[in-house]
Parts: sequence; C-alpha cells; structure tokens
Amino acid sequence: MDLRFDYNNMMSGVIGAHGVDEASADKDAELIKAAFNEVMDNRGKGWQEWTELPFTDGKEVDEIVSYCESIRKSAESFVVLGIGGSALGPSAVATALLHLRHNELPRAKRNAPKFYVEDNVDPDRMTSLLDIIDLKNTYFNVITKSGETSETLSQFLILYSALKKAVGEKEAKKKIIVTTTIGKGTLYDVAVKEGFKIYGVGKGVGGRFSVLSPVGLVPLAAVGVDIKKLLAGAADMAKASAVADVKKNPALMTAYLQVKSMEQGKNVSVMMPYADSLRYMSDFYAQLWAESLGKAVDKSGKTVNVGQTPAKSLGVTDQHSQVQLYTEGPFDKVVTFLAVDEYKTKQVITNDKTIDACDFLKGRTMNELITFERRATRYALYKANRSNFTITLPSVNAYTVGELLMYFMYETAFAGALMGIDAFNQPGVEEGKKATFAMFNRKGYEEKLKEIESVKKNPDYIIG
Ligand code: PA5
Repeated sequence: MDLRFDYNNMMSGVIGAHGVDEASADKDAELIKAAFNEVMDNRGKGWQEWTELPFTDGKEVDEIVSYCESIRKSAESFVVLGIGGSALGPSAVATALLHLRHNELPRAKRNAPKFYVEDNVDPDRMTSLLDIIDLKNTYFNVITKSGETSETLSQFLILYSALKKAVGEKEAKKKIIVTTTIGKGTLYDVAVKEGFKIYGVGKGVGGRFSVLSPVGLVPLAAVGVDIKKLLAGAADMAKASAVADVKKNPALMTAYLQVKSMEQGKNVSVMMPYADSLRYMSDFYAQLWAESLGKAVDKSGKTVNVGQTPAKSLGVTDQHSQVQLYTEGPFDKVVTFLAVDEYKTKQVITNDKTIDACDFLKGRTMNELITFERRATRYALYKANRSNFTITLPSVNAYTVGELLMYFMYETAFAGALMGIDAFNQPGVEEGKKATFAMFNRKGYEEKLKEIESVKKNPDYIIG
C-alpha cells in the first residue's frame, strides 16, 4: 500500500479528553470484529458487489480501454450526463489525474477530449454548455444506474435532440453511450431501441459505490486515465481492508475512530485536501459518508437518526475561511487532511534580488509552502485539542487515487456496520425522486401526488 495513515491526533494521549481513549479499541474488540466480519462476509453479495470491482475480468476492462481509445484520440469533447454517484466519482478522479486546466489546453497537449460532468439541471448551465461545445465532435455518456433519474433523462432528451439536428439521426446514435442497469429502467429501454452503445452497472453496485464500474471507467478511459492502474490501487486497498487486525487495517481503524468521535458529539467530518487535484475527492467522500451513514433507523428498525455531516474544505484556501472555526469553535468536528508528498510539478519562488521585503520566501518553493501550511494547520488543531488525522499520498497518480477511493468505500462500509445501520440504502433520496415524478404527473405516481396535494392544503410554504 502506498497511502500512509497517521491518526495520532485522534487519540486522548495526544489531544486530551476530546480524543479517543487509547484503550477503547481493545475494549471494543468484539464490536470491531463483528463489524469487520459483517463487511467481509458480504463481499460480492447483495449491495456489496462494489468490493469485487477492482478484480473485474481483464477482458471487460480491455474492451472499455479499446472502445474508448478511438474517442480519446478523435473527440473534441466528452460529456458525462449523470448526478450523485453517477457523476461525483468520474469528476473526482478526472480532476485528480488530468492537467488542472485540462479543458483550456490545446488539443495536442491535452491528448484527450475536453471533459465535462453535467450533473445539475440549472437551465443556464445547459444553455452555456450548448454555447461552447461542438456537437459534431462530442460524445455523451448518459449514466444512471436506475435509468429513471429526472435530471439525467432531461439532459439526455435535450442533448439527443440537439445532436440529431446537428449531425443527423444515424451519426447521433453513435455519439451516445449509455451506462445503466442492464434489462431494467427507462434509459435501458431507450438505449436498446435507439441502438446506443450500452455498458452495465451491476445490480448490487449502488451509485455512490460505482466509480470502479463502467460508471467511472468509461469516461475516465475516454480522457486517457490509466484505468488498469486505478483498479490495481483499489485492489491493493481491498486486500489491506481484509486484514482482521484493526491496527493494521486503516479503513477499519479510521471508521472506528470516527464512530467513537461521533459518540462524543463530533457530528461534522471535515475533508481537507492540500491539493487542488484532490478537491473533488471531498465531494466524492461527502456523498459516500452522508448518504450511507445518515439514517433514521438501525437494522432492527429502531429510530436512531444518526450520521455525521461531511464538510468540504480545501487547503490552504480554507485556512483563510474556515480554520478559525475548526480551532476555536465547538468540539464537534473531525478534520481529515489529505497530504501529498510530491506534487506533479515544482514552483520555485523567484529569488528577486531587487525585492528585499519577502526574504523568508525567496528561493523556497510553493511545494514547501503548501506543505508547511498543512503542517502548521495540523499543529494549530493539535494545540487546540481538535481531532484530526492525515492520509498521505506519496504522489497523486492512478494507483494512489484507486487506493484512496477504495479506502473511502471500505471506511464507510465499516462505519455503517459499527453503527448498526444499513449503509447501502438511501430512502431519503428516493423520496425526493418520487415526489418529483409525482409533480410531473408521471404515470404510476398518482398516490404520491395525492399525498403531496394533501400537504398542499396546509400552508403553502411546506413545499413552496
Ligand atoms: O448513491 C446513490 O445511489 C444516489 O446518490 C445516486 O447515485 C443518484 O441519485 C443518481 O441515481 P442514478 O444513477 O440512478 O441516476
């Protein structure tokens, strides 16, 4: 494993009473073992098919690589239409691994299409996309596991019709790739009827756990990410997460420390990468952590209303925005730093002989500056007795990013098992989706509409 984990600053021996007692993991050994066994025993079963994705048959991965290679070489733009788990993974990985200003580079330097992930349905955003892309040379990957999500279907309808106008029906069909559950859902039926290229998402792979399935692999391969290396990193983290000894299993250990911290009232989990390339990893993590652990009931049906609110923060930017709160506000947070040893490039701070005032910076590097600022913030949190831990990537590459994704997924699954809740459902999200269908008078949602209408008779402001 290339990632390094340092959770000293979570422990009471280091940060005092607000930390987790060093002896507690031993005291809770049975609870930890039960949670570990629950996740291990379900690998590849039910909603835990995601655990097997890094070990996907090489032929399937080869097919994706070879299909996407011609798109990588020829297309000017590649657009993902999807939301939630169908968007956040591709977006996080592409930002981590592509040039930070990928879309602004000339084609020859990019060596891949421009990349857009269109998750929201703000009409102005759609208009602006249509203003900038050349439909004749753009591929669209419509991603929805359920095949029913209103946001994604609406985007598809608008763009497919624009595409048909621009290039004709025959050509348009070749530019749409659909990733969905095979044999199920509206989008699957449309894709078969229209003859689009289709990739499948396993039945037991939930949206937020799907980044290593074709949901992530197809768009990432199309923009030139080494998806085999990504899967190799994920596979190694899967192996590290299958070690029973909590002290040697980072995903299990940090899940345990987070759950213990929640019990102590730490209801906020701040994700703070010190690298712009990792900034959307916070969004990926936020969805996993929030949707998986924010639950009304436990597995026995008892009302528990649990969860820890993820907060996104970027180092060093948010040192000048949020860190004041982290160091002096309520003791309700755990801060996770994502550190990087070697950035992709080096920026020397020019040693300009004519300017004396900034002597301490001259001749040093931005690499040192961002690193010292991270350490300084860690120190400030430690001094204020605030729970924090650091995950270090030796460098941001496809292998370490694969490790990080798998670590987040296992950590979430272990936390869910420790909390006694179902980490793999999302009834709160589904309720909103159904209410949207009803408001659009979709067939089959008549009862839901009646329910909403009955609320409407109460003060209008309930649903606005
Ligand atoms: O994690 C989840 O299951 C959800 O957040 C989904 O990813 C999101 O709602 C999009 O669903 P779908 O992929 O079915 O369009």
